[in-house]
Amino acid sequence: MAEENTIEPVIGIIGGSGLYDIDGLQDKEWRHVETPWGEPSDALLFGRLDGVRCVFLPRHGRGHPIPPSELNFRANIDALKRSGVTDILSLSAVGSLRDDLPPGSFVLVDQFIDRSFARNKTFFTRGCVAHVAMADPVCPRIGDEVMRQANLLNISIRKGGTYLVMEGPQFSTRAESELYRQWGCSVIGMTNMPEAKLAREAEIDYASVAMVTDFDCWHDEHDSVTVDAVVQVMQRNSERARALVRAVIPALGQRRAPCPAGCDRALDHALITAPAA
Ligand code: ADE
Repeated sequence: MAEENTIEPVIGIIGGSGLYDIDGLQDKEWRHVETPWGEPSDALLFGRLDGVRCVFLPRHGRGHPIPPSELNFRANIDALKRSGVTDILSLSAVGSLRDDLPPGSFVLVDQFIDRSFARNKTFFTRGCVAHVAMADPVCPRIGDEVMRQANLLNISIRKGGTYLVMEGPQFSTRAESELYRQWGCSVIGMTNMPEAKLAREAEIDYASVAMVTDFDCWHDEHDSVTVDAVVQVMQRNSERARALVRAVIPALGQRRAPCPAGCDRALDHALITAPAA
């Protein structure tokens, strides 16, 4: 049984395309955070919302200069960890792989299929080997709070869905898109992995809200995805995303309960390298 956790909650927000700031933030300060893994995507924005400490990172950097394959995911997660972050809510733009998730839909992701291949995916390299569990890749405590706040705000969110992470930067071929639909995936994007894996290795509770911008390329009655279409819907989604973030941060900061799925204790049984004698 996990003991009550007394660490002060610090809520990390990773903003995807279209989300570059947090509304109503007090004591705002952008600070550069150094990491042994290199440069994070940008400086981090520190502040408080209703007294709760939070840290915001624009995933692609302000102005969106960094493409998915060049994101330094290890530096991003490490910078958040060094900043004291205990919980991450990740937001990202995605394509839909289901008829009943049209552009404008929000999905609280509960599974991932990681098809990315050109990224550094672990903090544990030669000399210190660890295998963390990823069967349940997201934190149910954060997810429940997201759903509660969304209901209060009248924001509709689909609870649960599988996010297919592709390498990009090109969008999928029609055959790929159809394949992922057959696999039962709900949405497709380029950024949530290895972000979720590294958050787990860093013992940070992690949850992801995927915001649908397009029907990818599989849908007969809709044009194939284009950047223009993505950007237009993204701007409309970002207003609801900002309201959700504004509500979730103070709610999550109220109580630091241990994660029921053990996200915050992921290394307890994961290290395989013997400690140096
Ligand atoms: N991000 C937004 N739409 C996408 C799509 N269709 N495929 C991959 N990433 C996306």
